[in-house]
Amino acid sequence: MSVNEALAARRTCRTFTREPLAAGVLDSLLERARRTPTAGNCQGVEFLVLEGPDEVAAFWGSTLAPEKRRSFPWPGLLSAPGIVIPFGLPEVYLDRYSEDDKAASGLGGDMADWPVPYWLTDAAFAAMALQLLVVEEGLGSCFFGLFGNEEAVRERFEVPGSARSPGAIAIGHPDRDAQRPSTSASRPRRPAASVVHHGRW
Ligand SMILES: Cc1cc2nc3c(=O)[nH]c(=O)nc-3n(C[C@H](O)[C@H](O)[C@H](O)COP(=O)(O)O)c2cc1C
Repeated sequence: MSVNEALAARRTCRTFTREPLAAGVLDSLLERARRTPTAGNCQGVEFLVLEGPDEVAAFWGSTLAPEKRRSFPWPGLLSAPGIVIPFGLPEVYLDRYSEDDKAASGLGGDMADWPVPYWLTDAAFAAMALQLLVVEEGLGSCFFGLFGNEEAVRERFEVPGSARSPGAIAIGHPDRDAQRPSTSASRPRRPAASVVHHGRW
């Protein structure tokens, strides 16, 4: 499968079967997904991998309160047998950008000085690569925001307090007969001519 084909085939999957993932598939996908570029070659993205009923239930137990679960619009998302959460580690970036070859950037001291938090950029790059690799693997995925639950996830799974995540990726076997489009799916794809600005905006 080409990159082009993977991009064309990828759609968000929000209803999964309970079929477990093949042994080792998440590690194999992550070994490849972490080949994405990182600022200053920091490689400051690490991945929380939750797999199997107990770990996945612990995730939903930390992020979806029982009273909200009853009205949660995507119950089939909870069946996904795996959840990967990429975290960018700001300290790795601050240290790297304190090195001599990066001194001119002036970014070594304080996170607040970074116009773009590259730890989140890099984590999002890896998340995108993972989603494309999932397509190639014949699986489905849903990238979703952690909203106000990032701290709860860090605490529950002993993630370092400073680590930041752009969101989580549920991975599993799509229940192809039970897919339900989200309200966002009805939004037509904007034509290239309205989003690509040649020469000036
Ligand atoms: C940053 C980001 C956050 C998203 N958050 C959610 C989410 O919280 N819940 C969800 O069901 N989908 C979420 N999505 C998936 C989008 O709704 C989806 O990508 C979009 O509607 C386009 O559909 P497609 O992925 O099938 O092409 C998110 C996607 C991105 C990129």
